[in-house]
Amino acid sequence: MQEQKILIIDYGSQYTQLIARRIRENKTYCEVVTPAYLNNLKDSENIIGVVLSGGPNSTINDNKHDLNDHLFELDVPVLGICFGMQLICKKFGGVLEQSSSREYGKAKLDIHSKGKIFDGLSDSLEVWMSHGDSVTEVSDNFKIIASTNNKSLSAIKVNNKEIYGIQFHPEVTHTLDDGKIISNFVNKICNSRSQWTTKNIIIKQISKIKNKVGGDNVILGLSGGVDSSVSAAILHKAISNQLTCIFVDNGLLRLNERDQVKESFKDFEKIKIHYVDASKLFMKRLEGITEPEEKRKIIGKTFVDVFQDEAKKIENVKWLAQGTIYPDVIESAASSENAHLIKSHHNVGGLPKEMNLDLIEPLRELFKDEVRKLGIELGIKSTLINRHPFPGPGLAVRILGEVKKEYADILREADNIFIKMLHEYNMYNKISQAFTVFMPIKSVGVTGDGRSYGNVLSLRAVKTIDFMTAKPFDFPFDFLEEVSTKIINEVPGISRVCLDISSKPPATIEWE
Ligand code: XMP
Repeated sequence: MQEQKILIIDYGSQYTQLIARRIRENKTYCEVVTPAYLNNLKDSENIIGVVLSGGPNSTINDNKHDLNDHLFELDVPVLGICFGMQLICKKFGGVLEQSSSREYGKAKLDIHSKGKIFDGLSDSLEVWMSHGDSVTEVSDNFKIIASTNNKSLSAIKVNNKEIYGIQFHPEVTHTLDDGKIISNFVNKICNSRSQWTTKNIIIKQISKIKNKVGGDNVILGLSGGVDSSVSAAILHKAISNQLTCIFVDNGLLRLNERDQVKESFKDFEKIKIHYVDASKLFMKRLEGITEPEEKRKIIGKTFVDVFQDEAKKIENVKWLAQGTIYPDVIESAASSENAHLIKSHHNVGGLPKEMNLDLIEPLRELFKDEVRKLGIELGIKSTLINRHPFPGPGLAVRILGEVKKEYADILREADNIFIKMLHEYNMYNKISQAFTVFMPIKSVGVTGDGRSYGNVLSLRAVKTIDFMTAKPFDFPFDFLEEVSTKIINEVPGISRVCLDISSKPPATIEWE
């Protein structure tokens, strides 16, 4: 049986990935595609519905995205959200107007006709709006099923067809429908069989990996992060000892990282992990380098050199596994040719083409929350799965200026104290990313009877959904005082602890 899927046509909304996540939460597979995708579609039998996303463009003076008949030839339910609704109305002879002011923020929706899409909701609903153009008239073949207090048309349905348009954003949590609108579309209108479950994803991926790899060997760079760990776990389950993981210690990792990786994989029978201590080489190449981008480049290049040397020792390798996940695919596929918000890609290096290996990316279709669920199901400890993200260049972007082993050692100790205390006080899981930053400046302190000069360290902890914007975490003062005292008492070389309270933007999460 072919896997059912819903297509999301991306017109550049900042919320497109959210729509996808909401559909997946309804145990239904979906893909984000470009508007041109439908033109080349050959096989349509497994598509059970199409969502047209919002977007920053206007349908009024621009015909670029006008809907063509390919979409309706599929004969599946369609849900147009915001810009998507305007496209549907335009296609079927509606009238659109450019408003003098945007309708932005909360609005009260009056539902006139519930049908399947508003099933289970009360007659009035708080929704989230964000649009400039409005639909002011629709042709006879439409039914107006909801409007807002300013009388604008907020939801329509094409008569006798499962084609819907809604002007607000059901995918954001500010629309207080408890997820019902998207769930109704997926389950009651598209009639999903709800087969996108963690167990099914694992079965499907294992069979895909086996078919692809056959009897060849695969190598994977294991970093201790979630994505590479879950990739290793699923590959190990699929091809067992045909997989070799390479763990490179670059001297810029957190305290006891290697032991943690060992511990996390100890129940994976006979998993092959090569541990390479290349910290001296990394430190040597970083000597005297202070410019952040140069540091990143050197680390990326050195990683490739070390990885390549190690890979040469393994026979019959044809495949390189990578922990690419779905948001990376969407962002780099320029499916967001219109997107106004683009996350910069930080990945260290990338491996060179000369290695002549084919890529295998077992998590390519998955969002981060799905990757985490997969990891737990495959038996990886939750302490690893729920760890905060850690940048590829590691502590190098948390030591301002030149990187030295002595600084990295200090930072590792201090960071460990901070993170341990966050766990003790049950704060770790409320924070998206927390760490310490080392400043190579000296400040005076008093130890015993004498004066001392030590370095300055900053605590950084942020809350964020997408890492593109972030807010500082609001700590109780007592906690901060306790961390500061503990770090200064226990980590030689630190005389002062500060707290970074900047938001992103204008600051970034890392300090370099
Ligand atoms: P910024 O500092 O850009 O960080 O606000 C956003 C997220 O990206 C991570 N980050 C990196 N990750 N290589 C990585 O793999 C890098 O060079 C890099 N720089 C920042 C950062 O930790 C945060 O999660």
